[in-house]
Amino acid sequence: MDMIEVSGLFKSYGPIQAIHDINFKVKKGEVVGFLGPNGAGKSTTMKIITGSMAPSGGSVRVAGFDVFEDPIEVKKRIGYLPENPPVYGDMSVESYLKFVAKLKGVEASRVKAQVEKSIEKTDLGSVRRRLIQNLSKGYRQRVGIAQALVSDPEVLILDEPTSGLDPRQVAEVRALIKELKGEHTIILSTHILPEVQAMCERIIIINRGHIVAQDSLEGLSTRMAGATQVKIKVARPSGEVEKSLQAIPGVSALVKSEHGYAMAIASGGAADGATDGVVERIAEAAVQSRAGLLELRRESADLEEIFLKLTTSEETQTTGGAV
Ligand SMILES: Nc1ncnc2c1ncn2[C@@H]1O[C@H](COP(=O)(O)OP(=O)(O)OP(=O)(O)O)[C@@H](O)[C@H]1O
Ligand SMILES: [Mg+2]
Repeated sequence: MDMIEVSGLFKSYGPIQAIHDINFKVKKGEVVGFLGPNGAGKSTTMKIITGSMAPSGGSVRVAGFDVFEDPIEVKKRIGYLPENPPVYGDMSVESYLKFVAKLKGVEASRVKAQVEKSIEKTDLGSVRRRLIQNLSKGYRQRVGIAQALVSDPEVLILDEPTSGLDPRQVAEVRALIKELKGEHTIILSTHILPEVQAMCERIIIINRGHIVAQDSLEGLSTRMAGATQVKIKVARPSGEVEKSLQAIPGVSALVKSEHGYAMAIASGGAADGATDGVVERIAEAAVQSRAGLLELRRESADLEEIFLKLTTSEETQTTGGAV
């Protein structure tokens, strides 16, 4: 069963198009990682899924309910750790969690037990009576995770759950998320590849508002083992050429650079000939969309290089003028 269904999602902030035609599904109990560099559109997508923000277009269903037609039903089922959790600095950890539990409609008789459970899971026992404003950043992050858990929601949307944590805490949060898997359907975001490798079964890679790849961890690892990379340089990059390149079967990821694109293409295994057809179609697509093909190169680099680029590069999102 699909617990989350995101269809044709668009969002613009004035002239800035933050996300562009985002489509994906998440099955019940799955842990999906949203991987992408700063500004990719991860938080925007998560805000829309949780009903905290309206999209410019498209729809989201959670457990069969439309986020905008049935926001109450959806919010009941979601625990959300926002990128910048709201500050209730003058509340103690415990009273804040009680407050959130009530707000989320947890039955009065179950509030205490739920608060205890979330304190225990996030290891906040030692600071439970301290004011949130006096906690270190790492502990505040744990409070954010605890409030997402406190209503025992079916779905958890965690925006960079390990940000601001020290290495030991990172390991703890990763372990916690693994523990929550199965009981909850989880989407988490990160810009670090090892992070998704440690926690997620499936990865959705997003760059400049577009999904550039989505696959199981296994599938991605297999592709990483022996993928071929094709780099092209064009005189006139455009949305049209980008779309036609992405549509070519065998092109599994596409990264923009200043004057062109780098693509990961399906591995042909031992026989190089298997990828020739894909390279040919890439050349055709560039010519047909009149982008002015200047250069085309095949490199036997592995996919990891592309993902690294995707997840660390600032160059792809600086100007916005290339496409
Ligand atoms: N409120 C806003 N007003 C204008 N532009 C915004 C707003 N929020 C986000 N953006 C822009 O939308 C794009 C996507 O931002 P978003 O926060 O979704 O990215 P992200 O993947 O979460 O990045 P990060 O890793 O830095 O958290 C960026 O170009 C960002 O500058
Ligand atoms: Mg973000």
